[in-house]
Amino acid sequence: MSPASPHLRALVLGSAAGGGVPQWNCGCRVCRLAWSGTRVKPRTQAGIALSVDGENWLLLNASIDLRQQILATPALHPRGAGRHSPIGAIVLTNAEVDSAAGLLALRERQPLQIFGTQATLDAIGANRMFDVVDRAVAPRRVVRFGEQFEPLPGIKLELFAIPGKVPLWLEEGEVSTDEIGEGTVCVAVEAASRRLVYAPACAHVTDDLDARIANADALFFDGTLFADDELIVNGLGEKTGRRMGHSALSGPGGTLEALARHANVRRILIHINNSNPILIEGSPEEAKVKAAGWEIAFDGMEVAP
Ligand code: MLT
Ligand code: MN
Ligand code: ZN
Repeated sequence: MSPASPHLRALVLGSAAGGGVPQWNCGCRVCRLAWSGTRVKPRTQAGIALSVDGENWLLLNASIDLRQQILATPALHPRGAGRHSPIGAIVLTNAEVDSAAGLLALRERQPLQIFGTQATLDAIGANRMFDVVDRAVAPRRVVRFGEQFEPLPGIKLELFAIPGKVPLWLEEGEVSTDEIGEGTVCVAVEAASRRLVYAPACAHVTDDLDARIANADALFFDGTLFADDELIVNGLGEKTGRRMGHSALSGPGGTLEALARHANVRRILIHINNSNPILIEGSPEEAKVKAAGWEIAFDGMEVAP
């Protein structure tokens, strides 16, 4: 294939869950290693960029670290003398701070389109701070389930529901943590004869998701926690992974088990929390996920499925 022929490229802009690695106020085992620059790579909050021509890029999520991520990614720098950006569109999988707050970093009147479900766009729409990203310049486009759309020429997407919960900042009273609706979605990408699935938050694997993964060349999947109770055991918090709407990697019904049959799909963990020991190079947990056939995303990773 000549370099000029269209092919799908995915750049990992950020690979961490909320808080990043290290987290600003954390001295847990993983963060301590990251602070000291030993065995743990620093990571920004999750998002990837996709392109088929290397010129025009689509973002899957806009993390609160987006400005820093653009600075670190030459493909996303402006070209020419005036105002310009290779970023033409953004797709949001939910309205969490670490998925959507980066829109605020794009408020300099750059024409682009913002795609999401009605629920996600409503959540953002109800928060007036996001009005600084002028709808006249950066229109918001509602995407319905089962409808393929093409945010950039040559990149076709479909959103579908996967189990999750409302964003942390919208939680009220009793929270349903594996709701299947418009709140948490997976992105199925089809471009240049390749299929990629992006699911940075997922409470458990449904039959629908499993079938999509079986058909994909590459998968980016929720790698938030290794063990469901790791925040509690390490004295970092009171919530289980389940309560946060994230399926843990290990344990019965965990992601390693649930997706074991997809050995022929390139499987990459993303949205990895700073409590997760797979981030420690040389750890037994890292060895375990690698032995199960998974890769661990890092900032700057490039995937050409
Ligand atoms: C999550 O993935 O559970 C949320 O992003 C939490 C957060 O906003 O920090
Ligand atoms: Mn998150
Ligand atoms: Zn930490």
